[in-house]
Amino acid sequence: MPRLVIVSNRVPVPKPGAKTQPGGLAVALKDALEGRSAIWFGWSGQTSREPGDEPAIVEANGVSYATVDLTEQELKLYYTGYSNGTLWPLLHYRMGLVEFRREEEEGYRAVNERFARVLAARLRPDDVIWVHDFHLFPLAGALRRLGLGNRIGFFLHVPFPPAPFFAALPRGEALLADIAQYDLVGMQTEEDAANLSGALAGAGLSTRVEAFPIGMDAEGFAKTAARAARSAEAKRLAESLNGRALLLGVDRLDYSKGLPNRFLGVDRLLRRFPEQRRNVTFLQVAPVSRGELQQYRSLRRELDELAGRINGQHAEVDWAPIRWITRASSRTSLSGYLRLAKVGLVTPLRDGMNLVAKEYVAAQDEKDPGVLVLSRFAGAAAELPGAVLVNPHDPDEIAEGLNDALSMPLEERQARWRENMALLKQNSAARWSKGFLAALGEDATPPGSGSRP
Ligand code: ADP
Ligand code: F6P
Repeated sequence: MPRLVIVSNRVPVPKPGAKTQPGGLAVALKDALEGRSAIWFGWSGQTSREPGDEPAIVEANGVSYATVDLTEQELKLYYTGYSNGTLWPLLHYRMGLVEFRREEEEGYRAVNERFARVLAARLRPDDVIWVHDFHLFPLAGALRRLGLGNRIGFFLHVPFPPAPFFAALPRGEALLADIAQYDLVGMQTEEDAANLSGALAGAGLSTRVEAFPIGMDAEGFAKTAARAARSAEAKRLAESLNGRALLLGVDRLDYSKGLPNRFLGVDRLLRRFPEQRRNVTFLQVAPVSRGELQQYRSLRRELDELAGRINGQHAEVDWAPIRWITRASSRTSLSGYLRLAKVGLVTPLRDGMNLVAKEYVAAQDEKDPGVLVLSRFAGAAAELPGAVLVNPHDPDEIAEGLNDALSMPLEERQARWRENMALLKQNSAARWSKGFLAALGEDATPPGSGSRP
């Protein structure tokens, strides 16, 4: 089997004792690497004055993790500026939040060129390369310009908007030309695949674009959650509820996650369904993310204010409806909280997949499972037919979804959970990565014989 080279902005370099960054990518790729020779290349997560082009290498479990530092300026232009300030809102259908600056676009391209140079020096002609996410759209083109004929695949973890929307991006054609350099482009949903294919066709370009909805290790997560729910910490949470139903949200603090409307949905639940007052506690865990950007800082202020206002209006001396935590928790602790929750509340305005939705289902106790209230605009909505689907733009619909979930009889909860869990087991993380790599043709003709110049 050829060596696998994974490339992503963040690289989950195993560091004993260190907290890992929350993020779907690290979690999903674990299975792709097991039992084969592999390199995982990307940014070290650090900045330095004069980073050389010699990557730091950590060898662990047969994988060689190779990372390079960025300068402060590179980070500002490539990651904060173009990736998170331009592409992230654009790809999540939020034109009003898109900021475009040419110097950031140029900085983004320059970092991709540098990554390509560093990586090319370490590649063998038969390596199969799998690039992840929007930070690295131009990487294949940069590698091709250095003369590499390897098979290169790309997976986009986030949504892709319809062509007329994408057309608003200045110099968007150049980005589409970059995407067309990949041999295979994987997307989360059929809708995303159709949108990208449409945008490529409109620019006179084409490549193979297919949907590969990302999966998870549902059985493994279920075991972790069952164990975590017996921990002292989870017991403290359970006792603190005093018999009330736990409604739980777990997200990065990101405007794509629909948090203000979610808080307002809880507010509407308490107003419109007074019988639920004092029967529920809503816990939102949302670690601060991308705090360098003003949109993220103002979102945090908005939520601080909303949580305070809603609690002020509804709380009693021994109960407040909202618990709001902006610190990170470990994945294991989260799995225990998810298991204890009677309702998983996942209401992004747009999301590529949303792994938390899947993790909530996997964490449930099959004898008494909770209900997932899920945005119809998350990729996961196409994969979890047993969820209560809501329009996340409407707090009243969220409140109705919550009330339905809280009133749902045991038999219906079990039937919905069984349907969801069966699908989760079917579309595992292993199946996702194997499916993508098989479609990329890693075992077919010798690469390097390249059809390209
Ligand atoms: P995104 O990639 O946009 O952050 P996803 O829901 O697809 O959203 O993936 C998030 C991943 O990060 C999930 O696996 C989830 O368990 C994990 N995660 C989310 N919030 C936290 C947190 N507070 N602490 C640790 N891990 C988290
Ligand atoms: O899942 C989308 C994604 O952008 C990943 O690529 C990334 O690792 C994760 O969200 C967290 O974001 P960030 O790396 O910017 O903290």
